[in-house]
Amino acid sequence: MTSGRSFYITTPIYYPSDVPHIGHGYTTVAVDALARWHRQAGDDTWMLTGTDEHGQKMMRAAAANGATPQEWVDRLVSESWFPLLETLDVANDDFIRTTQPRHEERVKEFVQAIYDRGYIYAGEFEALYCVGCEEFKTESEIVDGEGPFEGLKVCVIHSKPLELLQEKNYFFKLSEFQDRLLELYAEQPDFIRPDSARNEVVSFVKSGLKDLSISRSTFDWGITVPWDESHVIYVWVDALLNYATAIGYGTDPEQFARHWPAYHVVGKDILRFHAVIWPAMLMAAGVDVPKGVFAHGWLLVGGEKMSKSKLTGIAPNEITDVFGSDAYRYYFLSAIAFGQDGSFSWEDLSARYQAELANGFGNLASRTVAMIGRYFEGIVPPPGEYTERDVRVQKITADAATTADAAIERFRIDEAIDAVWKLVDDLNQYITENEPWALAKDDAQRVRLGTVLYTAAEGLRALAVLLSPVMPVATQKLWEALGVPARLVDQPIRRAGEWGQLAPGTSVNGLAPLFPRVEQA
Ligand code: ME8
Ligand code: MG
Repeated sequence: MTSGRSFYITTPIYYPSDVPHIGHGYTTVAVDALARWHRQAGDDTWMLTGTDEHGQKMMRAAAANGATPQEWVDRLVSESWFPLLETLDVANDDFIRTTQPRHEERVKEFVQAIYDRGYIYAGEFEALYCVGCEEFKTESEIVDGEGPFEGLKVCVIHSKPLELLQEKNYFFKLSEFQDRLLELYAEQPDFIRPDSARNEVVSFVKSGLKDLSISRSTFDWGITVPWDESHVIYVWVDALLNYATAIGYGTDPEQFARHWPAYHVVGKDILRFHAVIWPAMLMAAGVDVPKGVFAHGWLLVGGEKMSKSKLTGIAPNEITDVFGSDAYRYYFLSAIAFGQDGSFSWEDLSARYQAELANGFGNLASRTVAMIGRYFEGIVPPPGEYTERDVRVQKITADAATTADAAIERFRIDEAIDAVWKLVDDLNQYITENEPWALAKDDAQRVRLGTVLYTAAEGLRALAVLLSPVMPVATQKLWEALGVPARLVDQPIRRAGEWGQLAPGTSVNGLAPLFPRVEQA
C-alpha cells in the first residue's frame, strides 16, 4: 500500500540515564501519530527512535552504580526504554542505540569523511562544560551558584557547577557554514518550525558561529576518533549521526536513498543542535540536509519545565495505568498546541478524559452500535433518502478528513484532532436531534431510523480511520464492533472522508465502553 512518497521521521535519541518521563513520552507519541498517519495514507513511512548512550554523564552514572557503562546502559534500555514504547503503543520501525556496531562504525566513517574534506582541525581549548547538558557553555548560559555552590559558576539550566576543561581538541569548522545555513533557512522557510523556533535560530546564527569542539581526551566512553586513538568523538556529534547510520549511511546506499532526508521532531531544548550543527555537518560531508526540524514546547508541571532532576518527573505509566495509552496520546496531542509549552495537571487530564473521550467519542460509539443491535438485529441498515441534515454530516466528514490531512502536513496534530472532533460533536448532536429511540416507536419511520443509524455508523467508520493514528487501541475495538471485514490499518486515511464506505448489511458486534469510568486517585 505504499506510494513513492517517502516519509522518514525521528524522535531525539534519549539519554537512558534518566528514567522516561511524560516529556519523553510526549515527543515519542507525537512522532508515532505522525508516522501512523502517513503510513495509513500509503506513504513510504519509517519511524526511528532510540537511545544516546555515550558521554560523560553516562560514564559517571555507571560508576556511581558500580557498573561498567555498557552494563549500565544495557540495563536501563531494557528495563525502562524498550518498555516505554509498549506502554505508549508506539509502532516504531527501528530503535537505534549509539553503542551498536552499525552506528559506531559509520560514525567513524562520517567523521573521517569530513576530516578528509578539510573541515576538522586540531586546536587548544579551554571552556566551562556542563555535564548535565553535555555542552560547553557561553557567557549568557553561565550564572553564579547559590547555596552549596556559592562562589562557583553554574549552568543556568541545571544549577550545577560547570567544569573547566582544558585540552587539545579537534574542531569542526562550524563558522564556515554561517552563510550557507542562513541561505537554507531563507530558501526553505519550512526547514525550522514553528516560526518562533525559526526566528530564534536565524538570529542565533546571524550573531555568528564559533567552531565546535568535537572530541574529548579526558575520558573514553565514546567512539574513538579514527585518526587519533587518544580521543573520543563528542557525544552530540555521535548522537546526531544516529539519524543517518540507522538507515544505512555508508553500508546500504539503497536503503539510505529510499528514506533520507528525514524530518526531525525535537523539544526546543535541543533545537540548535538539530537546526544548526546537524545540517552543517551534513553539508560538510556532502549529504542532503534534513527536510525539516520541528521543535515542540515543554511540558510544564506546576509551572516548571518537567524534569526528573527537578523532582517534578511523572512516569508515563502513572497515567496509562489509570487512563490507558489512548488517553495519554489523545490528551497530550490534543490539549497542547504543537510547538508551544503546555501545562500538565491531573485535573485537566481527568476532565478531558471524561468529557471528550468517555462522554464524547466513547458514548457516540456505544450508543450507535447498541441501537443498531436493538433496532436492526445488529445489521447495519441501508440509508433511505438523505435530508439536508444528513448531507451536512457528510460534508463535515469530508471536511474533517481534508482539514486534518492538511494539518498533519504542517505537523499540527492538535489541529488535526480538532478538525476530526467536529465530527464527533456533530454526530452526537445529530443523534440528539434525530432521536432514533423515538423513531423506533413508529413503524412509519422505519426507513428514516435506518438512515439516521446508517449515518451515525458511517460517521463512526470515518472516525475510526481518522483517529487511528492517535488512538490505535480504541479505534481498533470500534472497528471490530463495526464488523468491517477489511483491516483498519489498510483503510487509506486520505480517502476516509468519502461517504458511503460502510456496507449496509454488515453485522456489528457488541462494544464494551471504549473509555471506562476511572476511579479518582
Ligand atoms: O537531549 N517537555 O536527550 P534527553 C517536553 N540525548 N519534552 C521533553 C521534556 C519536557 N519537559 N523533557 C524532555 C537529549 N523532553 C539528547 C538528544 S538527539 C540526537 C540527542 C523530550 O534524554 C524532548 O523531546 O535529554 C527533548 O528534546 C528530549 O526529551 C530530550 O531528551
Ligand atoms: Mg535533557
